[in-house]
Parts: sequence; structure tokens; C-alpha cells
Amino acid sequence: MLVKGVNPKDRLIIALDVDNLQDAKRLVEQLRDYAGIFKVGKQLYTNTGPEILEIIHKNGGKVFLDLKFHDIPNTVAKAGQEAVKLKVFMYNLHALGGFDMMKMAVDFTKAKARELHIPRPIILAVTLLTSLNEKDIREVGINSSVDDEVLRLAKLSKKAGVDGVVASPREVKIIRENLGEDFIIVTPGIRPKPEVIDDQKRIMTPKEAILAGSDFIVIGRPIIEAVDPVESAKGILEDMKGLAV
Ligand code: C5P
Repeated sequence: MLVKGVNPKDRLIIALDVDNLQDAKRLVEQLRDYAGIFKVGKQLYTNTGPEILEIIHKNGGKVFLDLKFHDIPNTVAKAGQEAVKLKVFMYNLHALGGFDMMKMAVDFTKAKARELHIPRPIILAVTLLTSLNEKDIREVGINSSVDDEVLRLAKLSKKAGVDGVVASPREVKIIRENLGEDFIIVTPGIRPKPEVIDDQKRIMTPKEAILAGSDFIVIGRPIIEAVDPVESAKGILEDMKGLAV
């Protein structure tokens, strides 16, 4: 775990799952003292472009650019270089894009960061989308179990030089055991109150996720849709306190 010992705030990633710049900006300004990283996904990025990243940076936050790149190696590698230029803290790609795609993205990202003399982003692989079950993966021709496939793709991404994976709560333990201590694990599907799970199927509390081996947790609705997002974030940090060392 690369982030062992850091403040709980720096392990909390808030998913800015809103559809406009004003709401995203308000959330960043409200929550910047309680979360170190803000996740910008396809919806918000398509709406705002890089402007939201500038706002996050101006507020002292780091950016997880969650665009899940998946294309031919050259295209993904060059998209990764744009992510470096945008000074993101982490970005992700699909492991199913294959070894060459991941390796080229890693190499190009490192080269661009060296050229610009800036720290390179953490690169994460998405293994299997958590929305896919056994039946879904059969339909696209994958015959192993979901768990075996997730582990296989995680190993492949590590071999390609990728820094870590996005993993559902049920996968964290097995990935940590098999991929070692310095492979980064980012876990969504976190619910501070397990009775409210929205559309997530497998959930853990913040504390459980950290104890299982997550480095970073991603939380969206339980914070951004809370009556008081700050109170919700504070409660989550409290839950993680003492576990971060
Ligand atoms: O609102 P909630 O806490 O469920 O948001 C979780 C965030 O993590 C969303 O942005 C969702 O797209 C993302 N995510 C996920 N499961 C994955 C990968 C990403 O929930 N496997």
C-alpha cells in the first residue's frame, strides 16, 4: 500500500457525479477540507471539459480523471499524455484493452511527465465492470468466473506497469493477497450506512474497505446527495480514523 500512513482525508475520493459546472464547483468548495481527491467521470467531463479540473486544483484538490480509456494502444497512450498535461493525480483505463495498450499508456505517461518535469499520474486499470455478472461475461465470450477473470486482469495490468486497480469491495482482499502490498486498490461501492445502498450490489463501510486493504475509497451519493454533505464527509473520516497508519 503506497498510501499507508496518510491522513484519512487523502484517501477519500469524492465522485462528482453531477451534470453541470455550478453544482460541481459548489461541492468542491464545500468539501475541499474533507477530501483530498475529486473524481470527474464521463458525464461531468463531457459537460464541462477541463474547466472543472482547474477548479479542483485551485481549491487545493487532486483529480481522479475517470474516463476509463479503451482503444488502440496509440490512442490510449496519447490520451494518457493529455491527462499528464492536465496534471491529474490519477486516471484509468480498461484492462480488457490488452497488455500492449496498457504498457504503451504507462510508457507514454512516464515520458510526458519527465518531459514536463511534473509528477506522473497514478494509472489504474478497470478489470471487469462491477455491473457485469457471470451471464454477461459469458455473452461476450469470457468463460472463467468473475473472480478469476478479475484476478487475471489485475495481474496482467501489473505486468504492464499499471499502478493499481479499481476493485469492488468483494474483490479487495483477494487482489491485495495476490498482487502485493504496493499495488494500489481504489474501491467504490462504499456505504457509511449499510442500510442505504442505492444501486450498488456489494458494499462495505469505509472502515471495512480500509481494513480489507483498500488504499483509496470512492464515495458519491452518500456525500453529494446528503442533506449536509460536510457532515456526511466528516462522519466518513471519523469512521476511517486510526486505520490509516
Ligand atoms: O454514488 P456512489 O457512491 O455509488 O458512486 C460511486 C462512484 O464510483 C460512481 O462514480 C461510479 O460510477 C463509480 N464506480 C462504481 N463501481 C465501479 C467503478 C466505478 O461505483 N466498479
